[in-house]
Amino acid sequence: MNNRKTVVDILKKKSNSKIVMLTCYTAQMAKILDDHVDVLLVGDSLGMTIYGHKNTLSVTKRMMIDHGKCVASNSKNALTVIDMPFGSYEGDKIKAFDIAAEIISKTNATAIKLEGGLEIAETIDFIVNRGIPVMSHIGLMPQKINLVGKFTSVGKNESENNKIITDAKAISDSGAFAVVLEAMKPALAKKITDLINIPTIGIGAGKHCDGQVLVIDDILGIYSSFTPKFVKKYCNLSEIINKSVKSYAKEVRTSKFPSKKYTY
Ligand code: KIV
Repeated sequence: MNNRKTVVDILKKKSNSKIVMLTCYTAQMAKILDDHVDVLLVGDSLGMTIYGHKNTLSVTKRMMIDHGKCVASNSKNALTVIDMPFGSYEGDKIKAFDIAAEIISKTNATAIKLEGGLEIAETIDFIVNRGIPVMSHIGLMPQKINLVGKFTSVGKNESENNKIITDAKAISDSGAFAVVLEAMKPALAKKITDLINIPTIGIGAGKHCDGQVLVIDDILGIYSSFTPKFVKKYCNLSEIINKSVKSYAKEVRTSKFPSKKYTY
């Protein structure tokens, strides 16, 4: 029986129960997270967490498809959403649909995510009307990092706030099934959440959103290059890995490993 959550299930959660979303990029992690979350996002943050790039701009369609396939085929409960890479959807809506369709058909994921508000609403409408569910992402948009210079919160004055509200409305009207709100004051996120009909999923946007998302490497304490204020580290895996590998190296160097137990 197919138990995988659908976009209809996610839409129904609006104002009812919180949506739990985490990023996920690999098969083993998909198997672990699948029992606990509603949505697995194959985020283009993988450029930074997996590939060690300084931002998400050099992520390719190939990377998203390869990791998307791992996550979709190693999960069975969570809705799987794949980020469209920078440069693949912002221009031509027909090209955007073709790339979205390629990502979905090659990975078996359910939906795609793209960054943008009013400027991308027509493209979202075009893609959704041709059968592909879309999640959008506004507020701080990491793919637009070169316009702002650094990863920082948004909505610093009334006109910025109004623009973000306009973006949220445009996305909701365009047929997207959910929107990520990144790095903004809780009051603004609440206003948007109360105003639009689709679920809001916050990352650094306070507790009033319909759901929350974080980057898995952040909450497990693996990614160390940069920790935004909104990240709660639920454990420190880097420390555990360090200790374990140090013990292994010592045991190999002193011929303690492999002992009889680990030998044929
Ligand atoms: O790429 C990503 O991981 C994301 C989340 C931060 C929402 O877009």
